[in-house]
Amino acid sequence: MLYNNILETIGNTPLIKLNKIVEDIPGQVYAKVESFNPGLSAKDRIAHYIIEKAEASGQLRPGGTLIEATSGNTGYSLAMIAAIKGYRCILTVTSKISEEKKCGLKALGAEIVLCPKDVKPEDPRSYYEQAKRLTKEIPGAFYVNQNFNTQNMDAHFMTTGKEIWEQSQGKVTHYIASTGTGGTLCGAARYLKQQDPNTRIVAVDAYGSVLKKYYETGIYDQNEIKPYRIEGTGKNIIPGNIDFDIIDKYVKVMDKHAAHRARELARTEGILAGYSTGAVLQALFQIKDNLTEDDFVVLLVSDHGSRYLAKIYNDQWMEEQFPNKITNPAPVEHTI
Ligand SMILES: Cc1ncc(COP(=O)(O)O)c(C=O)c1O
Repeated sequence: MLYNNILETIGNTPLIKLNKIVEDIPGQVYAKVESFNPGLSAKDRIAHYIIEKAEASGQLRPGGTLIEATSGNTGYSLAMIAAIKGYRCILTVTSKISEEKKCGLKALGAEIVLCPKDVKPEDPRSYYEQAKRLTKEIPGAFYVNQNFNTQNMDAHFMTTGKEIWEQSQGKVTHYIASTGTGGTLCGAARYLKQQDPNTRIVAVDAYGSVLKKYYETGIYDQNEIKPYRIEGTGKNIIPGNIDFDIIDKYVKVMDKHAAHRARELARTEGILAGYSTGAVLQALFQIKDNLTEDDFVVLLVSDHGSRYLAKIYNDQWMEEQFPNKITNPAPVEHTI
């Protein structure tokens, strides 16, 4: 098959059975591996969809500038699209971003504005406020706004959800994904629930994020906000792409457990995935007592582990972050 450009390869990612790592989990578990997208993450889908809609509506014109506040993956997808379509791309990122992600964004020609990580979202220095400011200042700028632009959810409704349903031949009973903006979980969930209202939707959150408490109580609690390490799971705002009514269960996961699960996935299934995938896998283990042999669970693998080689896949980083014994250290390196 021939493609006219790299954007035509977005989507239609494989649904892959997990074997060894889920031996103790009742039912079957499959991974929807979004790192097969050309930008190595699920964010290619939303970036492509939102940009095409903005072009069609006239909000984005030739020579325009894409602006987004992003922890990295959406930025990478936007930078890739900007390179193909000839847009300028400016990304506001927090200082929590990994070095590899930053280099990848710059390699694709994006301009980066580094913002402090531990400031309130409404603080003028926050990466959200900086993105809004730039959008006002730059003529022809288009603010992608993945947190509140509900085309994010639509993209996953039209593609990810439909693919999971078709690939599983309608057998999916549980869908588990991390919630950042919420688009990946809720967009696909909406499609799946439309096909079968009994499909269980499990959202994954991190300690240090406000989402689970908001889901359970309706309270936005500033006291929940703490620094944490998982990237792409959890938020310090309530994004517009989380449809809380569609979620059946919210599971909170610890940094340490998520990191170890991601490492275990690589070792047992040969899937080198990102940190948030470790969180999803850990959530599966936390809810396993609710599953039966008849269940067909789909886990969302949001991105590729190559972006975390200096972090969760680095023994030294792991030892520094989680001083207790590493349960699954890397194989011994032999020096001759
Ligand atoms: C690595 C990673 N995992 C998970 C997510 C969560 O996806 P969503 O924003 O659709 O909730 C993101 C989004 O930022 C991400 O970058």
